[in-house]
Amino acid sequence: MRVRILKDEGAVARSVASQVAALIAERPDAVLGLPTGRTPIGLYAELRERHAAGEIDFSRVRTFNLDEFLGLPSNHPASYRTFMDTHLFRHVNLPRRYIHFLNGMAADAAAECRRYEAAIRKVGGLDLLILGIGANGHIGFNEPTRSVKANTHRAKLAAGTRRSNADLFGGRASDVPREALSMGVGTILRSRQIVLIATGAGKSAAIRATVDGPITSRVPASFLQLHGNVELVLDSAAAGGRRR
Ligand code: PGA
Repeated sequence: MRVRILKDEGAVARSVASQVAALIAERPDAVLGLPTGRTPIGLYAELRERHAAGEIDFSRVRTFNLDEFLGLPSNHPASYRTFMDTHLFRHVNLPRRYIHFLNGMAADAAAECRRYEAAIRKVGGLDLLILGIGANGHIGFNEPTRSVKANTHRAKLAAGTRRSNADLFGGRASDVPREALSMGVGTILRSRQIVLIATGAGKSAAIRATVDGPITSRVPASFLQLHGNVELVLDSAAAGGRRR
């Protein structure tokens, strides 16, 4: 696992935006896997700015988001789809038909998860998946538990994850859905390249366990050790105070 430690979250956002821009320049129809959360907000701001400056053309790019809350319509103000519209999609020339999202309102969740896996396969798989990480070591909504799921699945949210999503629901953790649909650990590991971004001291224990700990379902991100092309891009706080 490669680890890159940068000065602060602005440097993380700029660096990963450059990686995305370089990939799209080389492969205009790149397939991207995208995260939500506080961490990628700076990255999406960079991508918007570079698009506005004529530096990135999203017209042939495909995107697949990692996860979505169960039971929320995509246009709900707290949905991850709304988050992506707000921070990225509305501002760039990504055709709507190339934006892929799990439907949290699907009547048959298992069928919806199979549809998503098939859609990823149909475009030839993810070229680059950008991940955040939970303070508990989750990736997507693969929470610490006794076992991990390989494929896209219906997942229960950990109590801490519901608290950390409370902002989307006006600060009320009790309003955060208890379940979501999420790519599985296998879906994640099938991406050709993975870049995990983490900033702030609150992530340092999860990062340490991801990099140096045993591969265990108690730290779902530790499974990234099995992948041959993973990079962790951290600020020095998430790296536990280590410097570049
Ligand atoms: P955060 O969430 O960016 O809001 O910390 C990351 C995650 O839970 O994956």
